[in-house]
Amino acid sequence: MTDPSSLDPSSVDLSALPRDFAWGVATSAYQIEGAVDEDGRAPSIWDTFARTPGAIDGGDTGDVACDHYHRWPEDIALMQELGVDSYRFSLAWPRIVPGGDGPVNAAGLDFYDRLVDALLEAGITPNATLYHWDLPQALQDRGGWPERATAEHFAAYASVVAERLGDRVPHWATLNEPLCSAWIGHLEGRMAPGLTDLTAAVRASYHLLLGHGLAAQAIRAAAPRAQVGIVNNLSPVEAASDRPEDVAAALRVDGHTNRWWLDPLHGLGFPADMREVYGVDLPERAGDLATIAQPLDWLGLNYYFPAVVADDPTGPAPFAHQVYRPEVPHTGMDWEIDASGIESLLLRLTEEYGARRLYVTENGSAYPDVVRADGTIDDVERTRYLGEHLAACARAARRGAPLAGYYAWSLLDNFEWAYGYDKRFGLVHVDYETQRRTVKGSGRRYADLVRAHRHRTARAA
Ligand code: FCB
Repeated sequence: MTDPSSLDPSSVDLSALPRDFAWGVATSAYQIEGAVDEDGRAPSIWDTFARTPGAIDGGDTGDVACDHYHRWPEDIALMQELGVDSYRFSLAWPRIVPGGDGPVNAAGLDFYDRLVDALLEAGITPNATLYHWDLPQALQDRGGWPERATAEHFAAYASVVAERLGDRVPHWATLNEPLCSAWIGHLEGRMAPGLTDLTAAVRASYHLLLGHGLAAQAIRAAAPRAQVGIVNNLSPVEAASDRPEDVAAALRVDGHTNRWWLDPLHGLGFPADMREVYGVDLPERAGDLATIAQPLDWLGLNYYFPAVVADDPTGPAPFAHQVYRPEVPHTGMDWEIDASGIESLLLRLTEEYGARRLYVTENGSAYPDVVRADGTIDDVERTRYLGEHLAACARAARRGAPLAGYYAWSLLDNFEWAYGYDKRFGLVHVDYETQRRTVKGSGRRYADLVRAHRHRTARAA
């Protein structure tokens, strides 16, 4: 049973959030756009992966997705209806530089140009991510992220985009969740490009971070006022038991999930313990560490679930597995629900890494929604997840985390990678037969919370 008080906006204490807090929604290109072979777009590694038999539940692909490529005006109107201030989206590299390097496709850039103008006209601030996993297949054919040249091509693409949009887009993220690209894509094989190769994975992780640094420099060169950041998905890590083996496993998972990414970004180099765990030589060159550790104007946190782990000597690095605890509540993804995790991560980024500006760039939950006979969707679990996590964000802010905004994942139900369309994260329901969009109860509640926060801070001013 749902506790009705958790659904009441006045019961969610957001008073610690700053007055100019950015309320947002997030999406990514391959998950919503469709139109995969229109206007000069070339295939990405996700087009290829989605066609690999057995890779995606239900054999789904992003070919049509939410048809956002054609329906973006309607989607901007939905953002206005929700009352958000900012929209985090990603640009498709294979639309803009279809070959990965070389000629720029004007039609691809024009699409984002129109989108950005329309967002600004609607009073919504664009927050653009350059890479949300859709590497041009042409670059994969030349080795992909395990090759250094991919990082250099990424910076060249960043420069093209920033030159065109940098006058109007204030916030830029280089990468979304490099952890998923490297570890899930190259080690676990559950995401594109679908490899299970530790050496390739470690090399990919290195070149992703190098690509971030080079792209940050390229954005700033083209758009000196740009606010540049990166988006990581992190988890607080807990040992499943107090056995020394599990405690050691938790330290390794923390290294794999959190420190491997945060340490080099903050000038601390790659963690020595993890170098030993992987046992793979890094493709290091003099000066790379300084390139990776470009100053960050902001840091993005994507948070979904905590990691509770046990030692697993037979598994792949980092030799640990997530433990399923049936007694703990889970979302429709079978991910544990623990709102305190978002609070502890925001505080860790503040205290351990000295973050000066933080955004929650993604947070949300999937549940099997029921569309009622009258067409409405009363998604009480998602609504509760949202309220609990927002309250935890506000607690982190009260305790000193410089939290500047929150982006709900996601505006729309969309192509949830290897899970296909079955897993729905949207504040807005999408009927994939008709492409009809319907704001869910959670979307309405989000709009209420945003309005209440604005009202309160305006009164206090
Ligand atoms: C994150 C991804 C995002 C979405 C959510 C559920 O890892 O960045 O694209 O799939 O998970």
